[in-house]
Amino acid sequence: MDASAWPDGPLLAGAVSVVMGGSTGIGLATARCLARHGSAVELAANDEASVTAAVGQLRADGYEAHGTVLDVARPEQVEGFFADLTERRGRLSVLVNSAGIQRYGTAETTPVAVWDEVLDVNVRAMFLTVKHAVPLMRRSGGGAIVNVSSAQATASQRNVVAYTASKGAIVAMTRAMAIDHASDGIRVNSVSPGSIDTSMLRQSAREAGDEDEVLAQWGANHPLGRVGSPVEVADAILFLVSPLSGFVTGTELRVDGGLLAAVAVQAPEPDHADPGNADPGHA
Ligand SMILES: NC(=O)c1ccc[n+]([C@@H]2O[C@H](COP(=O)([O-])OP(=O)(O)OC[C@H]3O[C@@H](n4cnc5c(N)ncnc54)[C@H](O)[C@@H]3O)[C@@H](O)[C@H]2O)c1
Repeated sequence: MDASAWPDGPLLAGAVSVVMGGSTGIGLATARCLARHGSAVELAANDEASVTAAVGQLRADGYEAHGTVLDVARPEQVEGFFADLTERRGRLSVLVNSAGIQRYGTAETTPVAVWDEVLDVNVRAMFLTVKHAVPLMRRSGGGAIVNVSSAQATASQRNVVAYTASKGAIVAMTRAMAIDHASDGIRVNSVSPGSIDTSMLRQSAREAGDEDEVLAQWGANHPLGRVGSPVEVADAILFLVSPLSGFVTGTELRVDGGLLAAVAVQAPEPDHADPGNADPGHA
C-alpha cells in the first residue's frame, strides 16, 4: 500500500490478508490484529479444530474471517488455496507466513526425515506461498509480506540445528524476495521474535522442566525481564504490512525484548568497578 493512498479510517481498510499458521499463537494474534485494523482475514493451518475455533472467535467479534485447513508443506495444497482465494476474492494485499514447527536435535541426532520436515514447513512453505501470492498481489497493485523467523536466526541454542538453519534461511530468503518484487510494489520483511508465550514455547518449557519456572527463567534472560506476548509480535507485523512502513523492505525486525542486544558475559556492576575507571563527571 502506498502512503499517498492512506485511508482516512482504519489502517488496513479494504485489505484482504492471508495468515498462514493463523489458527493459534502469533498467527492468531496477527489475524485478530489485522482484522481489528480493517482487513478481511483468510487464515490457514493444518489443525482443523484450531482453524474452526479461530474463525469462530473472529466472527463472533464481528470480523470478516475465513478458514482453510491445509498443510503448507504440500505444494498442491498451497496452490489450491491460492486458486480458491483468487476465485473468491480476486485480490490480495497482505501475506503473513507464521506457520512453523520446532524439533530438537544436533546434526548427529536429527534424522534426515526430521530435517526435511522442519525445512519443508518452515522454509519451503514460505517459498510456495510467496510464489502464488505474488501474481495476485501484483494484480492488486502491490502488497506486503511478512515472514516469521526467530532470534535463533542470529544466535542459537544447543540442540536445535534444523530449526536454527530454517530460521536463518528465512531472513536471507526474505531479503532476496524483497529485491525481486520491489518493482511490483510488494514489500517483503521478516520479524524475529524472542521467547513468546504460545503453545510452541510452553511445549518447549515442559520438555525443559517445570513449565512456569522455565518460562520465568527464560523471561528473566531477556533484558525486558519477561517473555513476550503474541500480541506484541502481531503489532510489529501490523507495522510492517501497513502504510506506516511504506519505505521499509528487505529488513529483519527483532521483537525480542532486547535478547540479541545483550551478551551473556557481564562487565562489573558500577558499584564494584575499579574507581580508576569511574566517570569523572562534568564540572
Ligand atoms: N513462540 C515463540 O517463542 C517463537 C519464537 C520465535 C519464532 N517463533 C515462530 O513463530 C511462528 C508461530 O509460532 P507460535 O509460537 O505461534 O506457535 P504455534 O504452534 O501456536 O503456531 C504454529 C501455527 O502453525 C501451524 N502449522 C504448523 N505446521 C503446519 C503445517 N505443516 N501446515 C499448516 N500449518 C501448520 C499450526 O497449526 C499453528 O497454527 C513459528 O514460525 C515459530 O517458529 C515463535
